Amino acid sequence: MTSSSQSAIALTATQAAWLAELGIDRKLLATLADTSALFASARIAPGAGVAPVNVPSSGQETPASKRPDAAVGSPPMHRAPVQSVAQKLAATQPVDATPVQPVRRVDLPADLALLAQTVAGCQACGLHASRHQTVFGDGQTSAPHWMIIGEAPGDHDDHLGLPFQGKAGELLSTMLAAAGILPQASVFYTNLLKCRPKGGRTPRADEIQACLPYLQQQIALVRPSGLLVLGWQAAQALVGQRASLDQLRGQVHRYTDRGVDIPMVVTHHPASLLLRGQYKAAAWQDLHLARAALAA
Ligand code: URA
Repeated sequence: MTSSSQSAIALTATQAAWLAELGIDRKLLATLADTSALFASARIAPGAGVAPVNVPSSGQETPASKRPDAAVGSPPMHRAPVQSVAQKLAATQPVDATPVQPVRRVDLPADLALLAQTVAGCQACGLHASRHQTVFGDGQTSAPHWMIIGEAPGDHDDHLGLPFQGKAGELLSTMLAAAGILPQASVFYTNLLKCRPKGGRTPRADEIQACLPYLQQQIALVRPSGLLVLGWQAAQALVGQRASLDQLRGQVHRYTDRGVDIPMVVTHHPASLLLRGQYKAAAWQDLHLARAALAA
């Protein structure tokens, strides 16, 4: 993938409409052989590795699993008002308080197909009771350019057993193509959680803790060249920092674990962009940052 391939990209009508919505016309697009100006203020985060101990108990974005596959005419999303820790905990207390047994990384198979089988039989948390099936991932399983990590399966995904099958997935594909990542780059898609939270509710901290070792093991086995992380919950879990999405965006983190040392870029979840179009321009910048991070 070269930056000159960007200016040569053929846009579909949807991609062109998306870029037009951002105020990006073909003339500007053609100048983006040199995208460095976009990233002049981007920072490289030193050694942000896997420290997923303090997974937060609630998010600042509406959870991706709850967002659309978005209903047209849904009310606009707002940032959650500042909450005390007690309020946050209360908001995420399980209604169905099934005890969670965190998955132990040491027990996980070192083979991707076996790992998928293990995930399919997982009963570590209560989500197994309401899922139709687990959603392990889809795409190139051996050293793809990117592993793209969402939050949790949506409704369609839960039925089909594949990630990003709904409207959020459609927008994701459009964004990746408009930013010149697809179709050149190979991709593996997966999620932080492998089961859909019932009714699309926010994933709970204990569910994230329980499921995260599966994702870490997937990264170690698939060995992508880079990670593109969608949304706040997955970003915090992988960066291992309590921080807002805005604090985590706009920089190239490094994901380091078990011999893997790769760039990781965080951006808005496409489901949240379906509701908050004003963040699409920022997401577009993030995708260019991601492209530049792999090209470097
Ligand atoms: N579908 C997915 O697979 N992941 C998301 O984060 C949202 C929808």
